[in-house]
Amino acid sequence: MTAGDDAARAAGTGDSAGRGEPLLDLLRRDHREILDLFDRVAECGKGELDKMLSLFNRIEEGVQRHFEGEERFLYTALEQHEEARGLVLESYELHRVATFTIGGFKALALDDERWRPKALVLRRLVEVHVELQEKDLFPVALRVLGEEQLRGIEAHFVGVRSGSDPHRAGLDAPK
Ligand SMILES: [Fe+2]
Repeated sequence: MTAGDDAARAAGTGDSAGRGEPLLDLLRRDHREILDLFDRVAECGKGELDKMLSLFNRIEEGVQRHFEGEERFLYTALEQHEEARGLVLESYELHRVATFTIGGFKALALDDERWRPKALVLRRLVEVHVELQEKDLFPVALRVLGEEQLRGIEAHFVGVRSGSDPHRAGLDAPK
């Protein structure tokens, strides 16, 4: 991306801004970052438990913040549209299963033989979430919400993350 692209995007006049894509780009970036953290967990050796814990804490916080933002702003807008409703309900279910799986780590020691298989299952759930959204949900979101509504959702989303949006009340502080 060039500096011109950045300026056009900031002004909301670029092609991608015009299609409401910055919000979806932000979510795609979250997806890549979370999957990268899983890769880094998988690379940890047996003697790197502190590093594994630190990476897993970032995964937990990142997934939680990502899900909360999607549910609070994107899904509530999308579920009003019949075309998107089935995909949104499926997405909620995936969030629930992934959140349940994350909760199961609390009673599990890092050196327990079940820890890594459990982390692999969580990664697979996140991969299904990513595939469902990027292949199916995002194209529908672009179609049914339109540019203006997507930009409005993006403003709330970014506001929550920067701590400047009143909608952030009740959410964890951005890390
Ligand atoms: Fe997502």
